[in-house]
Amino acid sequence: MPIGTLYSSNITPDKTNGIGNWTEAQFVRAIREGVRPDGAALYPAMPFPSYARMTDEDLHALYAYFMHGVQPVAQAVRPNGIPWPLSMRFPLTVWRWVFAPSPESARKSAERSFPTPELARGAYLVEGPGHCGACHTKRGLAMQETALTAEDGPQYLAGGAAVDGWTPPSLRGEPRTGLGAWSVADLTAFLRTGRNMRGSAFGNMDTAVHHGTQYLTDDDLTAMARYLKALPAANKAEQNWQTDPAATRALRAGGKLTNGQRLYLDNCAACHRSTGAGYAPAFPPLAGNPVVMNAAPDSLIHIVLTGATLHGTQGAPSSFTMPGFGNRLSDAQVAAVVTFIRHAWGNDASAVSTMNVARLRKQLTPSTMQSAPPTPVDPAPAQPGSAPQPPEQDVSQDTSKPATTPAPTGHQPSEDALHSAPHPAMKAN
Ligand code: HEC
Ligand code: HEC
Repeated sequence: MPIGTLYSSNITPDKTNGIGNWTEAQFVRAIREGVRPDGAALYPAMPFPSYARMTDEDLHALYAYFMHGVQPVAQAVRPNGIPWPLSMRFPLTVWRWVFAPSPESARKSAERSFPTPELARGAYLVEGPGHCGACHTKRGLAMQETALTAEDGPQYLAGGAAVDGWTPPSLRGEPRTGLGAWSVADLTAFLRTGRNMRGSAFGNMDTAVHHGTQYLTDDDLTAMARYLKALPAANKAEQNWQTDPAATRALRAGGKLTNGQRLYLDNCAACHRSTGAGYAPAFPPLAGNPVVMNAAPDSLIHIVLTGATLHGTQGAPSSFTMPGFGNRLSDAQVAAVVTFIRHAWGNDASAVSTMNVARLRKQLTPSTMQSAPPTPVDPAPAQPGSAPQPPEQDVSQDTSKPATTPAPTGHQPSEDALHSAPHPAMKAN
């Protein structure tokens, strides 16, 4: 976190290191109000302002599960690496008084009236245990969420600040940068499998799907999707995204290409294609993808520098990895290729500067950078477990050349013979 390193608690029923000695009342107070049995306040990294809404019934079931369904683990928790004076916990108590809802007010808000029981269920899951707003809502100066429910105003779920360098986009109805173009079925597929025809989960959203939403029932996922689809756009000025074939034509014609276009052909087109349609749902489309048009480009710079892995889920067991380009592309080259995808195919989002990339490269911890697979020097045979090679081979064949090498002539759209039109919106294909 910006203030230092916070280690999460041992919540197994171990009596010395975990919560084995807690009573149910103490457990409920920690979850709903962020107060430990010794009276100390928890850091709001634990999303108790959302959990305040949880029902007695659900908390009772959770307590029973933790006490009887989880194995105790005798592991001491590492002390937090947060320097004094921020390490003092009493200001957190003040924070809690000011910003966290009381269980009574949270209960009243959770029980407000909804048009259908399904919407009420969706609101409960998204605003409560799902704590989607912890990432997807902007925080104020004291790190408090600026809205905790749909009632609190249009800033709720309108997109949050980057967490670990990944930017959570708007989950409201904006047609380009939000979920306006997504159907209920798109949303449930994304939350169940981490992927759909419009994008795939990466960074900490991959974690949220892998460890969380993939296990929800179809009814609960549908309720959440309907609730999200009922949130009107916060930014009313956005026009619908429409495909523009100019970038595809330029990439296919070859010849005089801009720096960004050439970098895209050499490094990205193998998987994301010259149409930007990708091979969804394995390799996500970049054309019309809301995360690509997000006002903040942090996630895009991050994924190009470090790569990312979409983990397998029960509903879609295959895992796909995007390689990192941090040790292959300079800051200026990353800026050029990210700027290209933000402008191509009808996308329109601000350009990215070299300084933007340099700042983020510094922030990403060494371990994150190391998680990028090493750049292959030779066109080595695919490693077992690595992402399958798509038909367009320009990346694997060109990796020993500097990225600025002009694209070989005769870049033919061989892809299209194999995959006719997987992206619903790519009419020009
Ligand atoms: C080997 C195939 C491959 C190559 C090459 C590749 N990507 Fe990706 N890309 C992927 C996969 C797979 C994902 C999904 C990763 C995840 O969900 O964790 C992805 C995700 C993305 C995303 C996020 C979109 C979303 O909805 O998940 C962006 C942006 C992106 N890639 C841009 C690029 C750019 C720019 C390049 C070239 C510098 C590039 N990719 C090269 C396979 C590739
Ligand atoms: C730990 C932070 C975090 C939490 C918690 C979280 N998200 Fe996300 N979410 C992200 C990030 C970062 C992205 C952008 C990367 C991506 O598209 O996968 C994202 C992307 C998404 C997308 C794709 C949007 C798009 O335009 O491509 C959906 C849908 C989504 N989240 C829904 C949810 C829901 C519903 C919840 C609550 C159950 C939730 N998220 C909780 C961080 C989070």
